[in-house]
Amino acid sequence: MTDDPREQIGRLFDEVAPVYDQVGVDFFGQFGRRLVALAGLKPGWRVLDIGTGRGAVLFPAADAVVPGGGEVLGVDIAQGMVDATSAEIQRRGLQNVYLQVSDAQTLPGLPERAYDAVLCGLVAFFLPDPQAGVRRWFDLLRPGGRLALSSFAGEDFRFKPAHDALAAFLPPGPPMKPPGIESFASSDAVADLLSSAGYVDIGSVERVHETVFRSPEHWWEWQGSHGGRATLHLIPREQREAAREAACAALEPLRREDGSLLLQPKLRYTVADKPR
Ligand SMILES: C[S@@+](CC[C@H](N)C(=O)[O-])C[C@H]1O[C@@H](n2cnc3c(N)ncnc32)[C@H](O)[C@@H]1O
Repeated sequence: MTDDPREQIGRLFDEVAPVYDQVGVDFFGQFGRRLVALAGLKPGWRVLDIGTGRGAVLFPAADAVVPGGGEVLGVDIAQGMVDATSAEIQRRGLQNVYLQVSDAQTLPGLPERAYDAVLCGLVAFFLPDPQAGVRRWFDLLRPGGRLALSSFAGEDFRFKPAHDALAAFLPPGPPMKPPGIESFASSDAVADLLSSAGYVDIGSVERVHETVFRSPEHWWEWQGSHGGRATLHLIPREQREAAREAACAALEPLRREDGSLLLQPKLRYTVADKPR
């Protein structure tokens, strides 16, 4: 075992892979579709999807390029994600869509100057050295190729009472943060990151999305189905039920007439090109 955070992150996503984006909430799917739309993919393009997860970006990318003879390679550090998404590729009978386990920061063995587009949905901030990652992706793009990535740009502060309730069960200390998060703190920070790696025509847009939970308990189920499970792991096992009750109770005032809850996260989408 090393202290490289990628190992820990890989284990976390391996664990959540069976339920990631599978709990009846349109969360990652809508972000993936938006990222693909903004990337302006063309039929026939060769695309690399980094940190593919359960395919929120991969499948819409395949819809855009494969009919014109293109292909998509998805890579993920978590074997569980690759296995589950491979099964879905087979279930859909897709051609020219491939997956492999690989580390996004180094991506060994991939051909350089070969990809028309590199896509990266909600992954780059998990890298301990995002600069190394975006430089590697630059080398993999053909001249004039396109990078499109997304990151979180703001949380829905109406849900803060639930997070505060959870915090009461966590060990003292600063909240957990993904290792590369500082490079994604603002559109300017992302632009600095990409321009120092050689990208040009860098533009970011921010968009507030809407996700609906049936109930506070549904929100809790979703909370354990993605990277947020890392926080739940920090709560001593014997206190998890009390933590669930406290967090759900804190969300009661947000319930709408039908009992549902509306979450409005803000995402940043950044598109940049490799010079011709
Ligand atoms: C928040 S999920 C995003 C998944 C997918 N792109 C989406 O939009 O739903 C982050 C994904 O990145 C993967 N990941 C995290 N660190 C990685 C790394 N160093 N190399 C490759 N994949 C990584 C995780 O295993 C996980 O599948």
